[in-house]
Amino acid sequence: MNRIMRKTVTALAALATSASMAAAADVEVLHWWTSGGEASALNVLKEDLAAQGIGWQDMPVAGGGGTQAMTVLRARVTSGNAPAAVQMLGFDITDWAKEGALANLNPIAEEGGWDAVVPEALQKFSKYDGEWIAVPVNIHSTNWVWANKPLLDELGIAQPTTWDELVAAMEAVKAAGKTAVAHGGQAWQDATIFDAVAMATGGPEFYQAAFIDLDPEALGSDTMKEVFDRMTVIRGYVDDNFSGRDWNLASAMVINGDAAFQFMGDWAKGEFLNAGKVPNEDFLCFRFPGTENQVTFNTDQFAVFSQGDEVSPEQAALAEAVISPEFQIAFNTVKGSVPARTDVSVETFDACGQKAYADLKAASSSGNLFGSMAHGHANPASVKNAMYDVITAQFNGEFDSETAVEEMVSAVELSQ
Ligand code: BGC
Repeated sequence: MNRIMRKTVTALAALATSASMAAAADVEVLHWWTSGGEASALNVLKEDLAAQGIGWQDMPVAGGGGTQAMTVLRARVTSGNAPAAVQMLGFDITDWAKEGALANLNPIAEEGGWDAVVPEALQKFSKYDGEWIAVPVNIHSTNWVWANKPLLDELGIAQPTTWDELVAAMEAVKAAGKTAVAHGGQAWQDATIFDAVAMATGGPEFYQAAFIDLDPEALGSDTMKEVFDRMTVIRGYVDDNFSGRDWNLASAMVINGDAAFQFMGDWAKGEFLNAGKVPNEDFLCFRFPGTENQVTFNTDQFAVFSQGDEVSPEQAALAEAVISPEFQIAFNTVKGSVPARTDVSVETFDACGQKAYADLKAASSSGNLFGSMAHGHANPASVKNAMYDVITAQFNGEFDSETAVEEMVSAVELSQ
């Protein structure tokens, strides 16, 4: 090879390397973290990857709970263009794993010792058939109340601890001309409230029987009717413009003092923090009255889609970044959730975060930790969506409680 040829070959090789590095240096992530609090949490991850020279190709699909994101994902995969990683909940991960769409993360998981540090309740969704197919980002829980503290103080309302006290508190707020319950009328938000009301009304055995075991007797019970009756009571305390409102706008109503309470998972805390609010000064976080000893949880995980035989270097870097203790602390501090591993300390977390972690540990050891129906951790999407339809129809007055109970039984039966 003469000198000129050698030079050309070297130049071409350098070009090829830099081109493949450029192509390899991006990771496309589909997610629904589009609110202010969620975006600040996501920035923690983007910055972490940027420091490793990995670019972020953003694929946001707005819509709390991920309903719209899952529709977009289906279209992407069907057209043979799956994103590298996807934010996903519980049984959705299992459904995609069954289709053989997810990559095997076992070599990374083994090297990182994931088996020993990720709680069993999460591994149930991170693994399929002995293979790690998703990396857990956090643990959220859904049975929370977020309250504007100065407003409650001004109205002389103490933190409610029972259903009756909650009703009295909502009534007092309404009488004072404020909105008692900040809510957005979207199916997943209605279901999030329903989750908490069901646990409060029927207790853990009922929750297990109805939403996890899908026992027709529990689904068709008088207890279920009472749950719907209570949903009707709550419906009486939302404002006139609730229909279609996004959850973070509902959080803003509590943040601004226009409303007293929001019944929402602890991603709501991310909005309060993002607005500069301080727990126990500006806002209160407490378990939905009657569910103090139970936790209905969900965990966001990044499912990694196979894009060839092996996990790509960027997918591996994303997985390793997400599971690292430093990231788990930094991200979850902002997001409102708690770490998805058992070996990190939450001593730097705020009061709500510490409560979330303590509640979770206690619920787990006393058998009171349940996958959230509303957030895809009790049943596959087919069943969840069937329940959503009935819950939303009843909340909007299409069914009375008795009809809703009958519809619940038949919708669940048909969905299986
Ligand atoms: C996710 C949270 C998210 C929330 C609202 C939940 O299903 O687990 O991470 O913040 O939806 O979008």
